[in-house]
Amino acid sequence: MLAREGHLCFTVPVIHGRMTRNRAGLCPSYHGTPGSAKGDFLVHTEFGADVWTFLHRAGFDSVTINHVAFPAATALTAKVSLPLSGAEENSSRIKANDTREVSSHLNGEGPKLTADPTYDQDGLRSVHNHEFVNEPRFQAAYARGCQAADEDYSWHWRVHTGLWAASATFKLPGDFIEFGVNRGFLSSAIMQSLKWNSTGRRFYLLDTFSGIDERYVSEGDITVGVLERNKADIARGFYTFDVDVVRRNFAEWPNALVIQGAVPETLSLVDTDQIAFAHIDMNCAPPEIAAAEFIWPILTPGAIVLLDDYAYRGYRSQKIAMDEFAASKGVSILSLPTGQGLIIKPPSCKAMVAKPSRRSFFKKWW
Ligand SMILES: C[S@@+](CC[C@H](N)C(=O)[O-])C[C@H]1O[C@@H](n2cnc3c(N)ncnc32)[C@H](O)[C@@H]1O
Repeated sequence: MLAREGHLCFTVPVIHGRMTRNRAGLCPSYHGTPGSAKGDFLVHTEFGADVWTFLHRAGFDSVTINHVAFPAATALTAKVSLPLSGAEENSSRIKANDTREVSSHLNGEGPKLTADPTYDQDGLRSVHNHEFVNEPRFQAAYARGCQAADEDYSWHWRVHTGLWAASATFKLPGDFIEFGVNRGFLSSAIMQSLKWNSTGRRFYLLDTFSGIDERYVSEGDITVGVLERNKADIARGFYTFDVDVVRRNFAEWPNALVIQGAVPETLSLVDTDQIAFAHIDMNCAPPEIAAAEFIWPILTPGAIVLLDDYAYRGYRSQKIAMDEFAASKGVSILSLPTGQGLIIKPPSCKAMVAKPSRRSFFKKWW
């Protein structure tokens, strides 16, 4: 196992004038002296100009290409910063404005994502497709979130999930709601993306606008360090206390209704009987459970509840509480690699009966 900050050095034959190709199906070619044709020297892959990308795909952070006698004798050096060990599991959350991971993308463009095929930020490293970061619609929404927060939290995949969930529930009747708004990154991105003023819906936005209310934290929250984190988040200016700035941010959307105060006390101010999308992000369990209990009866069947902290490192007290809540409602929570959790309000029995028959399905297609 390579140590953190460890280096890998190796050589490989590279054909610089073209891209890597697999030789399967081509006539056999052999490394070494022409005519030596030994089975062990059979070429399976001819590496090309994109040779360096294989190292990034394997998880290396930086790659250097060295030549002794160009174009021959190519040597590659790669370095990796390994993920945090289990011992660091419950240390502080890599979230929001953690400057270790922030690289100032206030224009909303993705982080080191175009040349580097690895997504690596916000506690998530993945080589899977994340082209969404380059989509103009995503970029515009993300940029609006950055504008609201006056900062890039480098959490593209979480925002992508939020935008997807919001648009997936957009066809359902009902208002939107966010518990834990802070400066309004995600909610602004959603409203920008869905052209909120043309929807006629309300977006309820609840927050103390003074950080976590310590009256509403559980023993479990205290055990995982919620109070210390709250103090740290207030001290570094992450939690806003300036509701006027927040209101100004949302001023372009008259149907965005900012409600200041602690959940559960402010729940009675939410004046709606139908909710299609909810984002719960208060970083402590009791108000989140109160919010979930409050909305459950008025969620439109098919509505999505997105939990920002459900699986996030260091927030296990919220997972335990939410699992208990979900079990009491007969649903389970989809745990996402972003650290989020996702609940879908089950469709009503009526909707389930309206399924087309096998006969009408076949008639339609054949
Ligand atoms: C992580 S921030 C929310 C970030 C926000 N969702 C975004 O997209 O930028 C958590 C917020 O929850 C708020 N909060 C914590 N406990 C609360 C409570 N009991 N009632 C209302 N808001 C609360 C905090 O003030 C803080 O602004």
